[in-house]
Amino acid sequence: TLRASFGPKREVKQRFTNQLQPQASTFKVAVLGAAGGIGQPLALLIKMSPLVSALHLYDIANVKGVAADLSHCNTPSQVLDFTGPSELANCLKGVDVVVIPAGVPRKPGMSRDDLFNINANIVKTLVEAVADNCPDAFIHIISNPVNSTVPIAAEVLKQKGAYDPKKLFGVTTLDVVRANTFVSQKKNLKLIDVDVPVVGGHAGITILPLLSKTRPSTTFTDEEVEELTVKIQNAGTEVVEAKAGAGSATLSMAYAAARFVESSLRALDGDGDVYECTFIQSELTELPFFASRVKLGKNGVEAVISADLQGLTQYEEKAVEALKEELMASIKKGVDFVHKQP
Ligand code: NAI
Repeated sequence: TLRASFGPKREVKQRFTNQLQPQASTFKVAVLGAAGGIGQPLALLIKMSPLVSALHLYDIANVKGVAADLSHCNTPSQVLDFTGPSELANCLKGVDVVVIPAGVPRKPGMSRDDLFNINANIVKTLVEAVADNCPDAFIHIISNPVNSTVPIAAEVLKQKGAYDPKKLFGVTTLDVVRANTFVSQKKNLKLIDVDVPVVGGHAGITILPLLSKTRPSTTFTDEEVEELTVKIQNAGTEVVEAKAGAGSATLSMAYAAARFVESSLRALDGDGDVYECTFIQSELTELPFFASRVKLGKNGVEAVISADLQGLTQYEEKAVEALKEELMASIKKGVDFVHKQP
């Protein structure tokens, strides 16, 4: 099925005990920015995965305590800590999946693009190290603005001769998680069954839930479409405002990122039925990067599900057109950032 595995149906018992089935293959995962608001709960959720043998936690500070704490959980993966640039290479060697939530989060009144100046440099530096130390790894970019940081990562990898567009992902899973939650609440659907593809990008109007493609097949009034679309697009800002200066989504983000990690590991493990929405280099539209549903396999993106963009409603078609200018500008800003470097 297309349903994501990171849900209630998964054997919960297996996650909380050391009575794990031996796995045929296990993987090494690195989290860069692991002491942060997202990094800590994300590391905890990854620690619970039976597919992980080693969990490498990197940050510029405060990561030793996080690792010591997590290492006491009786799940199989070994937790190692790495602090500061001098330990980054060792953190990355031999890693299969690198997750990057390093960087500053939004405060009330800020757009994701307002984070560009700080986070662009952080992502650039970290991805350079990924290129040097684990060029074959899947790279999950969480640091905002994702619409620009993914193109930055792509350009950095190209410069290093290490770019595989099938293995570079902008993490937009939280948009799908939110869409699934809000749609199931609104339409009284069983949450486990609901799957709403979200396409475009990861900021404001570039976040486009394709409600007409909701599974199970569901009908919405025009008012419901408008209300749900706006609610999904503004959900991040709702959290930023509720946290009133203390940051942005961390717990739901960690949940979503852990789902994307688990999906990636299942794909690496040979599961032939793994689908996720993600922001990738794409030929689906005329834009060089676009989020859509993809099939994941051992080598990364195995197929882009182009059918999602066919047979759209008029509302959705207009919204796809309307998001292109902003998304293209954000992509270009990321590409230009790398090429303007001395
Ligand atoms: P935070 O400030 O709590 O944590 C960030 C961590 O990154 C800190 O521990 C910090 O020490 C670390 N860091 C800073 N510079 C670093 C470097 N050069 N190398 C390694 N680590 C470094 O922030 P939070 O809440 O965890 O958010 C992190 C990022 O995730 C932000 O950019 C935020 O906008 C983004 N985000 C993305 C979402 C998405 O859907 N893709 C959703 C929510 C947040």
